[in-house]
Amino acid sequence: MNYVIGNWKMAPGSWQKAEQIYGQLVRDLPSGKDCTTVIAPPHVYLHPMAAQKPSDAVFALGAQNVYFESSGAHTGEVSADQLSDLGVSYVICGHSERRALGEDNALVAKKVQAVVTAGMYAVLCVGESSREGDWHAFLIEEIESVARLLTEADMARVIVAYEPIWAIGAEEPDTPDGAHTSALLIRKVIRERFNESVAADLPVLYGGSVNAKNIKPFAEQEGLNGVLVGRASRDPKQFVQIAEAYTG
Ligand code: PGA
Repeated sequence: MNYVIGNWKMAPGSWQKAEQIYGQLVRDLPSGKDCTTVIAPPHVYLHPMAAQKPSDAVFALGAQNVYFESSGAHTGEVSADQLSDLGVSYVICGHSERRALGEDNALVAKKVQAVVTAGMYAVLCVGESSREGDWHAFLIEEIESVARLLTEADMARVIVAYEPIWAIGAEEPDTPDGAHTSALLIRKVIRERFNESVAADLPVLYGGSVNAKNIKPFAEQEGLNGVLVGRASRDPKQFVQIAEAYTG
């Protein structure tokens, strides 16, 4: 299975604009049995989008963040069950823009655990800030800190998005080959902790400056199972073209 996940980040600035983008996606996103397309808008747009989602929609809804506790006095936070109740089935955890605000590996791991426990899929974002020094160790720890908390059964609900921080919001993405090399490392960590079949079944996506123009070689790259798209996911035409690269 391949995944094309659109992370709208903190945009657009109004529901009116969001509804416009969403309407075009509802109309134009292609269906494909080997590709799951996910739209992850800001939390505030999830409810109206879920309400307008056709029952035969070819896409799923995702959230960009979650809190790990299931209830309690946590001002401003949203629980996994609340998201699931709205019809959200994918939750991005540990995006580098959240890690930059102070989320560490331990917190990200608890979020992933909360998401899989609620029966949704966690999209765990990992990636180095530069390829200098021992960046492999950094990447390995990002994966291991989550894997340590999970069972083999939980792993069936985890998707890893390899997003080198230097390639996010940049002009150029990583090369498909560079992303594949990191995907191999990610699968090796999972193989060593669990086993070959968990590693082989783990979807590993690439994210960072993917757009309609550069998608083709990523879609063709073996060992990668799709993309996490930021800026280009808010441009319905581009996002549809990106999804089409996976649906044929
Ligand atoms: P970008 O963002 O596609 O705009 O580089 C990717 C991401 O942050 O997930």
